[in-house]
Amino acid sequence: MNKIIISIVLAVILIVGIGKITDIIFYVEKPEKSAYQVANTSTSVSNTSNSSEGSSNTSDSGNILALFASVNAADGEKVFKKCAACHSIAEAGGNKIGPALWGVLGRKAGSLSDYKYSKAMIAHGKPWSFEEMDGFLLKPKDWVKGTKMSYAGLKDAKERAALILYMNKNTNNPLPIN
Ligand code: HEC
Repeated sequence: MNKIIISIVLAVILIVGIGKITDIIFYVEKPEKSAYQVANTSTSVSNTSNSSEGSSNTSDSGNILALFASVNAADGEKVFKKCAACHSIAEAGGNKIGPALWGVLGRKAGSLSDYKYSKAMIAHGKPWSFEEMDGFLLKPKDWVKGTKMSYAGLKDAKERAALILYMNKNTNNPLPIN
């Protein structure tokens, strides 16, 4: 009788012990960042006017209207490839990881009823003007603190301008440029 109990106890100790050892052997470190994180890859559009990188948001976004003259929507379409992993831009493209961007300019931030925004984006709630979009795309996490958009930002002012011009083409109601 005793032998049976002892062998059961030994078996339990053995099983627990093996579990611990395999835990140690197969311990896998979890990645710190989510797999969706997209780095701000280096840019291809040449940048002549933006010598003030790292300057404040306001002085950068003040340039946006002036920059429209020197960029075009076709360049913006190329820049949009950085967004396409998470966003559709086509009409009826639908939500992906991020909300659908057809007609986003002029729309209120966080206002698509079929997309689950962060509380921060809903609270932000301002209409996407050219300046708002420019400031947001420069550093999303600074412009809308607490946004769940995992994107570092587009440092190049010309790229942002081209991208915004492109976004303003993918809509039924383009914002007036003047
Ligand atoms: C890693 C995925 C990802 C990438 C890359 C990404 N976004 Fe987003 N985006 C999101 C998510 C998620 C949200 C929702 C944010 C929230 O609710 O806080 C969002 C929100 C937005 C919004 C607000 C839309 C609304 O309905 O108010 C805009 C505008 C936007 N993104 C533009 C862009 C542009 C332009 C790019 C490319 C430069 C880009 N995003 C790249 C995931 C991404």
